[in-house]
Amino acid sequence: MKIGVFDSGFGGLTVLRALFERIPQADYLYLGDTARLPYGAKSRDTVARYAASSARFLAAEGAEFLVIACNTASALALDAIRSAVTVPVLGVVETGANAADRSSTSRDVMVIATAATVESHAYTAACAERGMRAIEKACPLLVPLVEEGWIEHPVTADVLRIYMAELMEVARGVGLNADTLVLGCTHYPLLRRQIEAAVPESLRVIDSAEVTADEVARRLRLGGQGSSAKTRFFATDSVAKFRVLGGRFLGRAIADVELVDLEAGNRQ
Ligand code: DGL
Repeated sequence: MKIGVFDSGFGGLTVLRALFERIPQADYLYLGDTARLPYGAKSRDTVARYAASSARFLAAEGAEFLVIACNTASALALDAIRSAVTVPVLGVVETGANAADRSSTSRDVMVIATAATVESHAYTAACAERGMRAIEKACPLLVPLVEEGWIEHPVTADVLRIYMAELMEVARGVGLNADTLVLGCTHYPLLRRQIEAAVPESLRVIDSAEVTADEVARRLRLGGQGSSAKTRFFATDSVAKFRVLGGRFLGRAIADVELVDLEAGNRQ
């Protein structure tokens, strides 16, 4: 089984890391569309065009199942992606909402994500379909802070404190009794500990990377056993930067990264 994993950049490597643990025997193709990152500040049409071309690339490279490990692309462009390829496609909004469904007893949840994901209200809709109320908050400063490597940094701690206080304020204002917080952006799992420190202890934090890997294993009826997978990494911008930054997200060194030009459809 060859599984394609797509993200606008490096954040999806948190999903790949979880997939390595759950399904070590599969082969993986990972594409980070780093030249066109960030998706989180772009329009639906642009995200759909970028994401569809990325999905087509992975399918052409032999992916038999696609994981859209980018919340923004999952929220704005899942239909466009599904129309662009013939292989099954799983997005992280669906898996995040399923996990919230399993976690929440109060049926009230909160979601933090990029501006584009929040504006799409995809999480609110997915939660409503499962009988939950949700509020969503855009946290646009978190992606650049993570990319800068400012994980254990006082500025990041301050930014998180402010964002989380604003979120709680909105929740109070609308009478939301949330017991679950969904990390609706693939960069946020790297800040999980810091986020947990900035919210009440009673709030369960859901990392969509882990639940997505569980869902892939369930759908493909794979998991558990096997030797280390063969993985090819593709990026649309600097392979040197991908190796350095990507290693941080993946939790292990990345040796080879292939540069691709999706606009021209050619590997370079
Ligand atoms: N991968 C994006 C997401 O999960 C975050 C980075 C971006 O804005 O492109 O929403």
